Amino acid sequence: MKTLKVAIAGLGTVGSGVVNLLQSQGDFLQTRTRTKFEIVAVSARDISKPRMFSLPNAVWCDDPLDLVETDADVIVELIGGAGGVAYDLMEKTLVHKKTLVTANKSMLAMHGGKISQLSVHHNTPVYCEASVAGGLPVIKLLREGLSANKIVSVRGILNGTCNYILTLMHQQKREFLDVLQEAQEKGFAEADPSLDVDGGDAGHKLAILSAFAFHTLPNFDEKNISGIRAITLKDIDQALQKNGSLKLIGHAFCDQDNNIQQSVRVEFIDRADPFYNVNDVFNAVEIHASHAGKIFLQGKGAGSEITASAVVADLIDIAMGRYFPLFGEV
Ligand code: HSE
Repeated sequence: MKTLKVAIAGLGTVGSGVVNLLQSQGDFLQTRTRTKFEIVAVSARDISKPRMFSLPNAVWCDDPLDLVETDADVIVELIGGAGGVAYDLMEKTLVHKKTLVTANKSMLAMHGGKISQLSVHHNTPVYCEASVAGGLPVIKLLREGLSANKIVSVRGILNGTCNYILTLMHQQKREFLDVLQEAQEKGFAEADPSLDVDGGDAGHKLAILSAFAFHTLPNFDEKNISGIRAITLKDIDQALQKNGSLKLIGHAFCDQDNNIQQSVRVEFIDRADPFYNVNDVFNAVEIHASHAGKIFLQGKGAGSEITASAVVADLIDIAMGRYFPLFGEV
């Protein structure tokens, strides 16, 4: 029986979900992979915070960078943020030739080239299924299931907060600010919701998907990104009258000149379009592949168990020796 030693940086919603999944499904995972997943070290902002689990055998590191110095084989970065300590941890992990699992969409979107370069230079893999659309295994689909295809386009509802707000505006005839406030009260939207409602979060996810789809590096280009802040009830009503709805859609495709075009914007969605029925906090991705045709995935894009499912899928790939190069490589 092998052991995969795992260190986790960040014990928030996703980190706690990963610990819970590894602990509650330990036997099942062990049987399936012939590997024992052992959490050997953790780091979080507040050591004294009450938690639903205990990790008596894990080393506590006040500084996440110290996780790399432990005997962990894999560092799971769940801190978030494009720069700062998350970036430093990514860099130190790869320089020390430890495998990196990350859910950090903004860091991958903004620094994908550098991460890819470090991964190649230090011959150390990076796994990032949890960075896009939570429970939807869309990165796996692109780089494994559809690897024999040229990708024609990727479209997606990639931000659950925006989809929730637009759904309630549509169903309950309420204005944007009113619904946003409710979403914040319910904890769906961040206290500062700008990254969600202005399209940046969907833009980060699209840049990552686009890189996997078209074998390039992520190119997060703000100029083709807009959000839902300006959408009024009048716009929603007009869409309804035309037998459709409005959705924030990320769209990437390769044009005739071989340039990759990316946009995030509110689009009119006809009733016949599969995106029409994707409501509330749900995400969806449609991939148009040269040979497999159109594939549509729908599911939850955020949440503790949901995102943990993607992180642990990466850990299973590592345990099984399944290596997939990061962006831009074949
Ligand atoms: N704020 C994000 C969303 C969380 O609403 O989709 C998941 O990435």
